[in-house]
Amino acid sequence: MSSKPHSHAQWSSRLAFTLAAVGSSVGLGNIWKFPYMTGESGGGAFVLVYLICILLIGLPILMSEWLLGRLGQKNPISTMSHISARLKRSPAWVLIGVAGVLGAYLILSFYSVIGGWALAFIADAASGSFETLTSDTAGSLFGGLLGDPTTLLAWHSAFMLMVILVVAGGVAGGLERAAKILMPLLAVMLIVLVGYAATTDGFADAAAWLLTPDFSKLDKDGVLAAMGHAFFTLSLGMGIMMAYGSYLSDDVNIGRTALIVVVLDTVIALLAGLAIFPVVFSNGLDAAAGPGLIFQTLPLAFGHMPGGEVFGVVFFVLLVFAAWTSGISLLEPIVEWLEEKTPMSRVGSAWVAGIATWLLGIATILSFNLWSDVAPLGMFAKFEGMTIFDLLDYATSKLMLPLTGLATIVFVGWFMGRDEVRSQLNMSDSAFSLWSFVARYIAPIGVVVVFASSL
Ligand code: PHE
Repeated sequence: MSSKPHSHAQWSSRLAFTLAAVGSSVGLGNIWKFPYMTGESGGGAFVLVYLICILLIGLPILMSEWLLGRLGQKNPISTMSHISARLKRSPAWVLIGVAGVLGAYLILSFYSVIGGWALAFIADAASGSFETLTSDTAGSLFGGLLGDPTTLLAWHSAFMLMVILVVAGGVAGGLERAAKILMPLLAVMLIVLVGYAATTDGFADAAAWLLTPDFSKLDKDGVLAAMGHAFFTLSLGMGIMMAYGSYLSDDVNIGRTALIVVVLDTVIALLAGLAIFPVVFSNGLDAAAGPGLIFQTLPLAFGHMPGGEVFGVVFFVLLVFAAWTSGISLLEPIVEWLEEKTPMSRVGSAWVAGIATWLLGIATILSFNLWSDVAPLGMFAKFEGMTIFDLLDYATSKLMLPLTGLATIVFVGWFMGRDEVRSQLNMSDSAFSLWSFVARYIAPIGVVVVFASSL
C-alpha cells in the first residue's frame, strides 16, 4: 500500500513472520512460568483473569506494537523518535523504545538461566536419573542443580551461546530457519504429552482445577501477576514485537495475524497446564512449588511412566526449543539498536549484547544459592525476602512491561490520529470502531485499574 522505502530486509513470507512471532511469544512463559504462577495463585480464577487480560489488553497492544514497527521501520527507539517527530508529538515517547530495550535486556538475563535449567534436564533425562526418583526425592535433581553455581553457569553460557549464534546470523538466515523448523515441532510434542497426561488419574481433577474459577483463591497481587504475565507471554512492552513489525511487509493483515499468535500462545499455555498439573495431582505434589514446579514434578512422572526416559528427553528438548526462539527474540531488539546506532556489525552487536546479558545473568544464578538470602530491597516491606531474580522478574513483568505497554496503546489510541492507525489496520468500519474503543478505553483503563488496586 505505502511506497515508503524499507530500510532493511523483510520477512521472506507471511508464514515466516507468523512463525517467528509465535516463536517469540511461545516459550518458557507458557511452559515454565504460566504453570508455576497458576499453581501459586490457586488455579482457575488466575487463568480466567489471565485470559481476559490476553484478549482485552494483550491483543490490542500486540497490534499497536506491530503497526508502530511497520510505520517506523527501525529499532524500537528510533521508531518511536521517528514517528513522534513526524506526527509532531513529544520526543518523550521515545522512552517507550528505551524501556523496551532495557526490559528485554533484564528479562533475557534471567531467561537464559532458566533456559539453562532446561538444557541441564535434557542431560538428566537422557542419563536415566529420573527413574530412581520417589515422591520424597522428587525435588532432589533440581535442588542439586540450584545449589551448584558452576554447573548453572555452564548451562547458562551454553544457552546464551545458542541465542547469540542465531541472532548473529541475521533475520533471514537465523530467525526464520529456526522458527520454521522449531515451532511446528513444538506443537506436536506438546500434544503428545497431553495425550499421556490424559491417561493419568489426576487428569479430570487437574482440568477442573485449571478451568473452574474460584475467586476466593485470587488476591490483588494475583490479578497483577495475571496481567503482567499476559504481557510477558506475548512478548509485549519490550519493543520486541515492535522490532518484528519493522520487518513486516505492507500486505500482512495485522489483526488477523495477531489473533493467530494470541490463540496459539494461549493454547500452548493451556496445553502445558494440562500436561503438567495432572502429574502434580496424580502424585500428590505441591502445585504452589514456585519456579521449580516443572523441574521438581515432571522428572518424577517421567521416571514412573512407561517410556519415560524418551518422554523426558522429548519434553525438555521441546522446552529448550521454545525458550531458544524466545531468547532469540529478546536479544533481537538490543542487537538491532546497537547495529543501527554504532559502527558495529550485526555479528559484533550480537556478541556485545549477548555477553552483557550473560554477565547480568550471573546475578540470577547466585540468587538461587550463594545470594539466596540477599534481598537488595528488603528494607521495604513489599520486597522483603525477594532475591535479585525475584526483583528482576517483578520489575519487568509487574512494572516495566505493563507501563510500557500502557504508553504504547495510549500513544496509538490517543496521539497518532485515526487515519494513520486505520491505514495500518485494514479493517471494516465496524471492526475498526470496536478496535478503537478497546484500544482507547478498555485496555488502558484495565491496566491502570489493576495497577492502582495492587499498589
Ligand atoms: N514470550 C516468551 C515467553 O512467554 C518469551 C519472552 C518473554 C519473549 C519476554 C520476550 C519477552 O516465554
